[in-house]
Amino acid sequence: MRRIFFNILKTLDPEVAHNLTINVLKLPNPFIESNNDFPILSNDINGLSFKNPIGMAAGFDKNAEVINSLFNLGFGFTECGTVTPRPQFGNVKPRVFRLASDKAIINRLGFNNNGIEKFLTNMSKSNKNGVLGANIGPNKDTENFVDDYINLYTKVVDYSDYVTVNVSSPNTKNLREIQEHDTLNTLLSELSQLRENMKTQKKIILKIDPDSTKQHYSMILNLVQKYKIDGIIATNTTISRPQDLMDEYKDEEGGISGQPLKELSNKVLSFLSKETNGELLLIGVGGISNAKDVYTKIKLGASLVQLYTALTFNGPQMINKIKKELSLLLQSDGYKSISDAVGIIHS
Ligand SMILES: Cc1cc2nc3c(=O)[nH]c(=O)nc-3n(C[C@H](O)[C@H](O)[C@H](O)COP(=O)(O)O)c2cc1C
Repeated sequence: MRRIFFNILKTLDPEVAHNLTINVLKLPNPFIESNNDFPILSNDINGLSFKNPIGMAAGFDKNAEVINSLFNLGFGFTECGTVTPRPQFGNVKPRVFRLASDKAIINRLGFNNNGIEKFLTNMSKSNKNGVLGANIGPNKDTENFVDDYINLYTKVVDYSDYVTVNVSSPNTKNLREIQEHDTLNTLLSELSQLRENMKTQKKIILKIDPDSTKQHYSMILNLVQKYKIDGIIATNTTISRPQDLMDEYKDEEGGISGQPLKELSNKVLSFLSKETNGELLLIGVGGISNAKDVYTKIKLGASLVQLYTALTFNGPQMINKIKKELSLLLQSDGYKSISDAVGIIHS
């Protein structure tokens, strides 16, 4: 039954398939998996308990509608959003393209979502069966990007375990410019001040792009350390177009995710880990489709990982398969806990 449903999805327009999937996941107990967790995969990070390191990446559950179903499918954590202050339609359709022959997606959705108020109502229904993140971003017609992040942080902080500040989506005009020194300095300084004023320890994570230079990443790291930001997600989608793309949709505008992003995001992850001597929490995302891909990111310095695109090609059973195979890979290398393997390539 599940296989039939999944094969039908792959024949539909990607955005229609996505909306249908969300609706199915809203049903009571859809496609419950035998959700085994393996003690070797559990990890306590910055005061949060992760049953396993596999997270649902932002963009899948933009409106926080299917949190509990994602926990049921075996994810150790899920990141809802990107949510903006006001509801937003996003760019004109079609705006998501499946590059089947490249195992990739190009999207230029542009933060389509129902706005923060509905998001909070949905978040409050979490059964807390995993760690919950909220990914925030500005409305495209906002007067002031920084104010939007501040407002959103103030609102989501009581509902989520961590808050991701998304400054790296390529589909909102000028958003990536927030990663420039002066604007990022203002944003992170205001956020850390706000957190202090609110007397909350709630984690702030910065999500960055894969298309910058090493100098740029070093500058970002300096600011992250200066303002005690808790971690970095590496990375969002790429606006570059790897030479070997084959699919007819390869020249569509937008960000590429999936297989062609893997090497690029791994390079960024590795650089960040080396520069910080493994002392900053890093979440690796980009091109994960199996346990080996996860293990590579862990060894490069990620304590946690996220995925999205491969799920649309392989189906939700891949989550439990990855967990099982990852625990075997760790055991066969003699590790007692996943935390011992983090960043091992650099030691
Ligand atoms: C259709 C789609 C929508 C996305 N929307 C968001 C988003 O709203 N916010 C965000 O931070 N990342 C978004 N992403 C990026 C993913 O979170 C992730 O960083 C990227 O897809 C790389 O992971 P993957 O190769 O496993 O897909 C989106 C990705 C896809 C494919």
